[in-house]
Amino acid sequence: MIYLASVVLAVSLSVGLGDVGDFSPCLNLFHRSWPPKVIGGTPICQRYENRFHFATLYGRQRRSPWFSAYIFSPPAGKRPRADWMFEPQLASSRADGNMVPFPPGPVDQNVVESQAVDDDYKNSRFTRGHLNPSLHHTDHRDRVATFTLTNIVPQRPESNDGPWASLEGHVSNVLTKYCQGPSYIVTGIIPYVRDRWLKNRVAIPEYMWSAYCCLNHSRNLPENLTDTFPTFAAIGRNDPNSTEEIVPVDRSKKKQAGYDVRAMPLVELEEHLARRFGTEVSVFHERCA
Ligand SMILES: *[C@@H]1O[C@H](CO)[C@@H](O)[C@H](O)[C@H]1NC(C)=O
Ligand SMILES: *[C@@H]1O[C@H](CO)[C@@H](O)[C@H](O)[C@H]1NC(C)=O
Ligand SMILES: *[C@@H]1O[C@H](CO)[C@@H](O)[C@H](O)[C@H]1NC(C)=O
Repeated sequence: MIYLASVVLAVSLSVGLGDVGDFSPCLNLFHRSWPPKVIGGTPICQRYENRFHFATLYGRQRRSPWFSAYIFSPPAGKRPRADWMFEPQLASSRADGNMVPFPPGPVDQNVVESQAVDDDYKNSRFTRGHLNPSLHHTDHRDRVATFTLTNIVPQRPESNDGPWASLEGHVSNVLTKYCQGPSYIVTGIIPYVRDRWLKNRVAIPEYMWSAYCCLNHSRNLPENLTDTFPTFAAIGRNDPNSTEEIVPVDRSKKKQAGYDVRAMPLVELEEHLARRFGTEVSVFHERCA
């Protein structure tokens, strides 16, 4: 319920700020039009070329997202060329709410202050980790729209190109093959107990998590997938030095060890989130029952 209070606050503080501060223009992106109750933040209906493509709960002070929510569609074609974009409406109340590519030259100081920019990720030990990945969409514009830095967190390359990429691929295969209705996905982060920062500006997640809700699935599920419907959840490590209570390390997998991803029931994910956030957490309406 903390989330609800913060929406009211954000709306009252940001009158005229385009699509910032309110999920109501894009509630159709959530299962039962019900955004996750996770933590306070700034809702963004992610608009690209005048259409909503997904939704993000953004942490303004963190200059990085808490979660992104979207509807999965089977990937087609090549990954688009990455033209990284930003959100002018976070910097100026006169902006119209569409994300736009960074200009070739210097970036406006109001933009630099209000969100992450290219320089934050350059020459760092972190890659740009998509919460909503371009791989989970058919439509070209849906894919391009994922390249806004408000959908990105500092992710270690060993995770981004390793176990986390495998998880995204696994989810894509399973949903493409066996989900027959809409699949709602929410992917977010777990912060460190004491925040760590990239370039003193962008908060680094300790873990990433993801969950889906697909109520209409094939009746011919293979044995090993019967407990992955209607919901599936997982948490991935973003730091090999983290303790092992949430995700243990499999040391036999040398290259990927320390960046492990563990699948778990949705209730267990919600318990881990509740413990770290210190508040009750609901990812899907009635746990997608
Ligand atoms: C589930 O999907 C099947 C196949 O697409 C469709 O025939 C059926 O009407 C759907 N059921 C519901 C409840 O949406
Ligand atoms: C499930 O079993 C099939 C073979 O029946 C196998 O190809 C697939 O990798 C298994 N999936 C998982 C997630 O273990
Ligand atoms: C893990 O901790 C060790 C010892 O403090 C440190 O040298 C190393 O850089 C840390 N690894 C990462 C990926 O932060």
